[in-house]
Amino acid sequence: MDLAAGFAGRHVLVTGASSGLGEHFARLVARCRARVTIGARRLDRLEALAADLAELGAPEVRAVELDVANPASVEAALAAAGPIDVLVNNAGISEGRPALDVTVDLYDAVVDTNLRGVWLLSTAAARAWREAGQGGVIVNIASILAFRVAGAVPVYAASKAAVAQLTAALGLEWARYGIRVNALAPGYIATDINSTFFETDAGQAMIKRIPMRRLGQPSDLDGAFLLLAGDASAWMTGTCIAVDGGHLVSSL
Ligand SMILES: NC(=O)c1ccc[n+]([C@@H]2O[C@H](COP(=O)([O-])OP(=O)(O)OC[C@H]3O[C@@H](n4cnc5c(N)ncnc54)[C@H](OP(=O)(O)O)[C@@H]3O)[C@@H](O)[C@H]2O)c1
Repeated sequence: MDLAAGFAGRHVLVTGASSGLGEHFARLVARCRARVTIGARRLDRLEALAADLAELGAPEVRAVELDVANPASVEAALAAAGPIDVLVNNAGISEGRPALDVTVDLYDAVVDTNLRGVWLLSTAAARAWREAGQGGVIVNIASILAFRVAGAVPVYAASKAAVAQLTAALGLEWARYGIRVNALAPGYIATDINSTFFETDAGQAMIKRIPMRRLGQPSDLDGAFLLLAGDASAWMTGTCIAVDGGHLVSSL
């Protein structure tokens, strides 16, 4: 089965597409000839990416300013995007410090981006699909920290555990409407969110604890991403798939 088939002409919205994994997913679906809307706060970066996506094969590309934690911004971005078929909730941030150094404002920023953002986008998309009498597909980008913990990311880990559970709950509620909700739980992949950590001794030690002894590349996620975003997962909902070089099954 060709996982990339079936995206041609479909409209995919990727949040947090101004860097890292979101940018990678946008490029991936553009190569599959999907119509793509990219959203994030840094519009300048999105506009540069938009030109690349058109060259890669996307027949239509929109760059929309989006703060996933802000209901008005979510509403405006979805209106600017127009009807979508696939929503990729990828935007996320991490606190990167021990619990006792996390301020209330930082706690709120992490939970609002990682959880409230998924909630706002998913419910708005599902409402629009229900009104149009059509189904839809949601792919949430969780993390292996939804299932195990590491130091200095307590709020991030809790928010991603909540995303995995929200994925299951929405999968249950919306299956009857033809709306599928699944999550991808990546292991460690060097992007802006964590690159400084992997330059430290602790970061290097962590890489040695990954059973496959290496960080992931964004392209390591392609198979699971296309599976969850496309028709090959037509009978899957509420699941969370880890892609992590075996990190979740590392020895205790
Ligand atoms: N890299 C990894 O090892 C790893 C592992 C597991 C899970 N993940 C998850 O993968 C996702 C992408 O992370 P990444 O590694 O690609 O990190 P990244 O390069 O830092 O990208 C994060 C993206 O989220 C966007 N974003 C942050 N706050 C936002 C907001 N309020 N509204 C809209 N967009 C917002 C950022 O864009 P703006 O700043 O322009 O808004 C940026 O494009 C995150 O959910 C992360 O938790 C990453």
